[in-house]
Amino acid sequence: MDDVILLNRTKSKAVGVALDISNAIPKNSDITIQGTDDYSKITNSEIVVITASIGIYFKNRNETIESQARMIKEIGKKIKKYCPESIILIISNPVDVLTYFFLKETNFSRNNVIGIASSLDSSRFRYYLSKELGVKQSQISNAFVFGEHGDSMVPIFSKAKIDGKKILEIINPTQKENITRNIRDYWRILRKLKSRSQFGIAKNTYDIIESIIKNKTISVPASVLLEGEFGEKDVCIGVPIKITSKQKIEIQFMDFNKSEKELFKKSAQTVRNNIKSV
Ligand code: LAC
Repeated sequence: MDDVILLNRTKSKAVGVALDISNAIPKNSDITIQGTDDYSKITNSEIVVITASIGIYFKNRNETIESQARMIKEIGKKIKKYCPESIILIISNPVDVLTYFFLKETNFSRNNVIGIASSLDSSRFRYYLSKELGVKQSQISNAFVFGEHGDSMVPIFSKAKIDGKKILEIINPTQKENITRNIRDYWRILRKLKSRSQFGIAKNTYDIIESIIKNKTISVPASVLLEGEFGEKDVCIGVPIKITSKQKIEIQFMDFNKSEKELFKKSAQTVRNNIKSV
């Protein structure tokens, strides 16, 4: 049976949301949803998803970096106590920096902790490519965004395809620039129009959870601790990963072109500087 525990520092909120979601459980399902503020209730969960935030930021995901870092260390201590074997999916921002601090606080294996956001950026890349080229999203493949989940993110144009044809052969530099800016600023538009982003990140997280609990393999861009892969170490950043049927997280190799490699390197340095700024 699958049980979902919603944990929030404000118990009433967790209980309220759990009551609401309980009505969305299909008739033939055994899933239960409970709200709580008690960490002991999540003891030995298979997966823990961390979406906590101390407040809202407006200009930049790093605006609240210090308090978010303090928060993730506190959460890390409790998760280490109650869920030492769990797979941890971090959504809270700045996601790369928080994934790093979570790992440092808990000493968990890097194979058990991932930051989810590059897959969301990749969904946005696919969306803008389809809009720019006037085609359906389903005609676009290999639209990956790696690097920081922040202003230095790197859309990998060299891999993207439309109906199997290389997109780089079709779009011009101005279109590339516009698409890159639009993906980067997507969250700012959402912030202005509807406050928080929810559905895109929820679906991207769902896909990963589903693959883990159903033992299905999934290849997805996500933030993990690098130890030399892609020429980087001691930094968490978005790269291609694969979650295999044995729930093992593996980093996948992918060759970027020269300018993408340079942008990726800069992006890793940006995350590293942000980590050091705390
Ligand atoms: C966004 C948040 C999840 O990009 O960082 O929408």
